[in-house]
Amino acid sequence: MRRDSCKCEPLRLNRCGTASCPHVVQAPTVIAMVGLPARGKTFMSKKLTRYLNWIGIRTKAFNVGDYRRAATTEKCHDFFRADNIEAEDLRNKCALMAIDDACKFLRDGGEVAVVDATNTTRDRRKLLVELICENNNFKLFFVESICDDPEIIEANILEVKVCSPDYSGMDKTEAMQDFLQRIEHYREHYESMDYSYDKNLSFIQIFNQGERFLVNKLAGHLQSRVVYYLMNIHVLPRTIYLTRHGESQMNLQGRIGGDSDLSTRGWEYANALAKFVEQEKIPNLRVWTSEMKRTMQTAQHINAPKAHWKALNEIDAGICEGMTYEEIADKYPEEFAKRDQDKFHYRYPTGESYQDLVSRLEPVIMELERQENVMVVCHQAVARCLLAYFQDKTSEDLTYLKVPLHTVIKLTPVAYGCRVEFKYLNIEAVNTHREKPKNVSLNRSKEEALSTVPPNPAVNDVERHSPGER
Ligand code: ADP
Ligand code: F6P
Ligand code: PEP
Repeated sequence: MRRDSCKCEPLRLNRCGTASCPHVVQAPTVIAMVGLPARGKTFMSKKLTRYLNWIGIRTKAFNVGDYRRAATTEKCHDFFRADNIEAEDLRNKCALMAIDDACKFLRDGGEVAVVDATNTTRDRRKLLVELICENNNFKLFFVESICDDPEIIEANILEVKVCSPDYSGMDKTEAMQDFLQRIEHYREHYESMDYSYDKNLSFIQIFNQGERFLVNKLAGHLQSRVVYYLMNIHVLPRTIYLTRHGESQMNLQGRIGGDSDLSTRGWEYANALAKFVEQEKIPNLRVWTSEMKRTMQTAQHINAPKAHWKALNEIDAGICEGMTYEEIADKYPEEFAKRDQDKFHYRYPTGESYQDLVSRLEPVIMELERQENVMVVCHQAVARCLLAYFQDKTSEDLTYLKVPLHTVIKLTPVAYGCRVEFKYLNIEAVNTHREKPKNVSLNRSKEEALSTVPPNPAVNDVERHSPGER
């Protein structure tokens, strides 16, 4: 039974009062970025925040640049000069506001706050230690990015800085020149983290986009998880393709779970998918499927190395495996309603919840982060979890994401996020998406419970509406 292999204890409430997995976070933690401008601090802050939220740790990033933009319209590099006392005063005030909001967030039940600023001087970091550790007893972990390859810096500026709100309406070359001067002002007073001064601080230094790492005084599970994540991500251009298996025999009958073969239209999709991959001309593509027949059959004709992951298997519906939604509503009306009330946390008796699925998929995400071009052939619930990670969706939205059959979802990293394109391969399939019904109470009528079950043209009315007469 898969539940045994999930390390989740019975649900318990975390600091913010929502149920979640057993917690890796003992004390609230501030992650403070360190580094010159255009070193990937915001990129890492956003990505780490997305990852931590996805694994169930309530996290928020506080970008000092946003506070500065709200406080002043000054944007020219002169504003960042080491000898611009007035501006420095304002910048310190902005940093203080961000730190203050980060601490408030943690006091209100947040678990990790990322302070996304340059924090390039020892004085600024001392202030962080005072406010975060001494005044609030929170943990503090510094993440410093060090990179002096001019090509990388120039590419970074072109990718995200020349089009930032700091340079709106400005010519790109002019913006580039201004930003390079801004970096030089920071360099004048930059003090990198250094063991001889900072041996009591917890930090990671990341050199040249992850070519080398230096880790000091890791304090606790959360920090080691953060380090592990940062050591696995990369910035090489690549595309991830996400698709469900082709339509299966069970899909045709409106039944969930099982391990059935593809339908005739499912096999057509398998052929179309192989052609699609050929047309895309994807260098060094790897294909991952679950260990279920329908995903392996779907990937069968694709000309690329394949790996099969048990972790990609569909959600285990426990006692409801193989049933239609109508049958579940009929036989287990309370279970059916409880799932509608909180679909993310609801665990099928002897089966799994979406929350269990996220834990099971974490190693898949970590390995996806390490890889370049990958096509993942999986299942409805699994695809929702993976898509939610890339699209930064809340756990509630995750369970209702639309992932239609016979559609390839193309995910391409851009700037701080990811472009998402849905490519329908033009082969009809049943709709398996059931929206949340309006009435989720335990004593609702069966009609209300079934009001959002998608019509299934492949199944005749008698079969769908009279499960007992089968
Ligand atoms: P900063 O916040 O330091 O000013 P940004 O995060 O805005 O910099 O820069 C984004 C760019 O940084 C992206 O193009 C991304 O590819 C790149 N990047 C991501 N991680 C790193 C890293 N560890 N070192 C250098 N550049 C990185
Ligand atoms: O219906 C296809 C399917 O993949 C089932 O095997 C699975 O139980 C279901 O989708 C998950 O979707 P939902 O969580 O919306 O019931
Ligand atoms: C900023 O103003 O864009 C910024 C990152 O602030 P600081 O250098 O003060 O951290």
